[in-house]
Amino acid sequence: MKRPLIAGNWKMFKTVDEAVSLVQTIKAGVSRGADSQIVICPPFTALYAVSKALEGSRIDLGAQNMHPENEGAYTGEISPPMLKDVGCRYVILGHSERRQYFKETSVFINEKVKTALKYSLVPIVCIGETLQEREAKQQFEIVKAQMEQTFKDLSKEEMLKLVIAYEPIWAIGTGRTASPEQAEQMQSYIRRLLKETYSSESAVKIQIIYGGSVKPDNIAALMKKPNVDGALVGGASLKAETFVQIVQNATSEIHIEAGS
Ligand code: 13P
Repeated sequence: MKRPLIAGNWKMFKTVDEAVSLVQTIKAGVSRGADSQIVICPPFTALYAVSKALEGSRIDLGAQNMHPENEGAYTGEISPPMLKDVGCRYVILGHSERRQYFKETSVFINEKVKTALKYSLVPIVCIGETLQEREAKQQFEIVKAQMEQTFKDLSKEEMLKLVIAYEPIWAIGTGRTASPEQAEQMQSYIRRLLKETYSSESAVKIQIIYGGSVKPDNIAALMKKPNVDGALVGGASLKAETFVQIVQNATSEIHIEAGS
């Protein structure tokens, strides 16, 4: 049976005090119950305090971005060893908000993925199409091109050490979730591409999670799909109650529907 990976992306929300208080409540809420991998990605300013608050818990810490160099004159940037230093195990890379507002390209994200792996950080690499691309029925070619560039020159062994997050941009923060069928259709396509490029044996082991308006009431249906291995949660991860419910509901009824 699959073990869901539920990651909370807090984006640019929460002061240090608010972050510590939120994580304490989440920690208490998920201490019992079903087994899942839980990752919390606060803003940089709260990473150290949250890392301390998470000591001894089963929740992992992640960052929301990083620079590909290990140090240097890059004003305002944060490096992979700095993330390791504050206790991060994961790092979100290539989020659509970084691609859209900060003009990050797949080529640049590829560099970041390579250095994250070099520093033993687990990259959660985001890919996904815009509404216009979906309406023009280009979503598959867009995702394929993003994958080719973002994962360029990575070995089969390296691919096994990262997580892919399919986040259709039209579903982020809009309340408009991709239906479980739409998520499965794209995620099974992603898995097929991985099989073609790497071995089928490794392709089945790569975790592919879904992000975009995930809520307590839609996570169970998403998790039933064979190629949905978890969720990257934005807005609903900012409240302990909804995030804990998502974690619990993710494992509530995992009997996988027949492959699509
Ligand atoms: P929402 O869950 O708020 O739609 O955000 C999704 C997201 O961007 C997670 O990275």
